[in-house]
Amino acid sequence: MAEMLAFDALSAGYGNAVVLDRLSFSLNEGQSLAVLGRNGVGKTTLLETLMGHTRVMSGEIRWRGQPITRLAPHQRVRAGLGWVPQEREVFPSLTVEENLLVVARRGPWNLRRVYALFPRLQERRGNYGNQLSGGEQQMLAIGRALMTNPRLLLLDEPMEGLAPIIVEELARAIRALGEREGLACIVVEQHPVLALSMTNRAIVLERGTLVHSGDSAGLAEDTALLHRLLGVGIEEDLEVAAA
Ligand SMILES: Nc1ncnc2c1ncn2[C@@H]1O[C@H](COP(=O)(O)OP(=O)(O)O)[C@@H](O)[C@H]1O
Ligand SMILES: [Mg+2]
Repeated sequence: MAEMLAFDALSAGYGNAVVLDRLSFSLNEGQSLAVLGRNGVGKTTLLETLMGHTRVMSGEIRWRGQPITRLAPHQRVRAGLGWVPQEREVFPSLTVEENLLVVARRGPWNLRRVYALFPRLQERRGNYGNQLSGGEQQMLAIGRALMTNPRLLLLDEPMEGLAPIIVEELARAIRALGEREGLACIVVEQHPVLALSMTNRAIVLERGTLVHSGDSAGLAEDTALLHRLLGVGIEEDLEVAAA
């Protein structure tokens, strides 16, 4: 299988502060990745670095065979990276439909298909961004990324603060994107169980370095390893998954 994405000894951060420290991992075409780790270890910085929003000190990022380390963020969007930021960043004074259309790029994804994936958004098409619930905002943030017609979707804690029923609906939609559309994703999560159920591969970060890399199913089954890598919170996570 061909390599889709690789970080090669990448160090990056903000100003003089190094957050990611010689990070290396790779992902094949069509594979989805869970990025796990406690608060503050550099998960968001990894996605921000992939999108070109941080300062790279050394190393290389390859995307579909080409180095993209020096490309501007908009060039990376054009190359197929679709970003769903942690704060969702829905435009509050635009309607749902305007939010979607303002970023549209040519490709297989369009309004009709985003509405088919998230019927709620169609119902709310005329509502303004600031009139949406948290779950609807997250659907809109994902729908907006899809309208840019990405090959890889970057999701930063997409389930944060959402009700369990919405979390399930979003997880189903994201899995369907992978299985039916072949659209891979990188999911950043503090809570591992759900993220592992949505992905093929997993990496765990600790203070900006890689402490584990493997397949998601294997890690999900290895409770002792999960506990050692991620510590508290696993029991609650397992209860959520079992519910
Ligand atoms: N814009 C920024 N400027 C300076 N330091 C930052 C910035 N964003 C994050 N950091 C620092 O980088 C480290 C990793 O943060 P982050 O990537 O947000 O972690 P995570 O997403 O895993 O919680 C933290 O020490 C944080 O304080
Ligand atoms: Mg974060």
